[in-house]
Amino acid sequence: GTAAALMISTTAAMAEGETVGFAQIGSESGWRAAETTLTKQQAEERGIDLRFSDAQQKQENQIAAIRSFVAQGVDAILLAPVVATGWDSVLEEAQEAEIPVVLLDRQVDSSDDLYLTAVGSDLVHEGEVAGEWLVNAVGDEECRIVELQGTTGSTPAIDRKTGFENAIEGHDNLEIVRSQTGDFTRAQGKEVMESFLQAENGGKDICALYAHNDDMAVGAIQAIKEAGLAPGDDILIVSIDAVPDIFKAMADGEANATVELTPNMAGPAFDALEAYWADGTMPEKFIQTESKLYTQENDPMGEYETRKDLGY
Ligand code: AHR
Repeated sequence: GTAAALMISTTAAMAEGETVGFAQIGSESGWRAAETTLTKQQAEERGIDLRFSDAQQKQENQIAAIRSFVAQGVDAILLAPVVATGWDSVLEEAQEAEIPVVLLDRQVDSSDDLYLTAVGSDLVHEGEVAGEWLVNAVGDEECRIVELQGTTGSTPAIDRKTGFENAIEGHDNLEIVRSQTGDFTRAQGKEVMESFLQAENGGKDICALYAHNDDMAVGAIQAIKEAGLAPGDDILIVSIDAVPDIFKAMADGEANATVELTPNMAGPAFDALEAYWADGTMPEKFIQTESKLYTQENDPMGEYETRKDLGY
């Protein structure tokens, strides 16, 4: 109604003309690219002037970007921190300049006084959902699992590992036999999977792959096919993100399950910033997004189309 419309236009007017620096990690995965696209869309819709920096996966580049945003006197900074440690000094510099920082999708191990809020999912829970799916899928069968970890030292890699291990604990028929980083990329997912296959009797001794993101799973699917095995059947595949390509693989029977991470972290982040700019409203320290499990039974082609329409 009119009241709602009025409220929307007031909020929009508040963000209008504000400048926000976005210290993004890079474009290591389809999910990351979608997060960038949606952040730009959200900024544009709200009349926010977004300054974008791609750090090519390097923390030093992210730190340099934040320093440059501080020097430019932006009204806020979005930071998707590549790893958890090493942020104290630069976050203190932003705080001294009175520029609020909002963390997107990954966490830092700094004091939470150093940022306004963090938008993200419960990363341990994501790992648990993936692990519970596998526990149910294998039943009483013996299952030797290989794991592709995300970027070493990043909270999604640390927490998704913990969550998965929580879920399989006490199920002695399930065991992680190999675990290595694939840095969240398709290329490294494929490469590391090739070495797993080689070490495990050409893949015949592997029952399942748990990948910390879909892109690594997609790379691994390629490696499994090249080894002459059927991904999704000979080797069960569960991963995290819910990007279009994993739905395609699920539709083809080559992947089994994924846990969704929304790429729209900027929506809740800008909502929090708009309220803060308007009257100093302090958001909660953690704004949690949902995690949902999808399997081959959940209309993968429909999910594929929906995400393509969203701008993935
Ligand atoms: O921090 C979120 C993770 O980063 C996504 O799951 C992964 O695809 C991305 O690289």
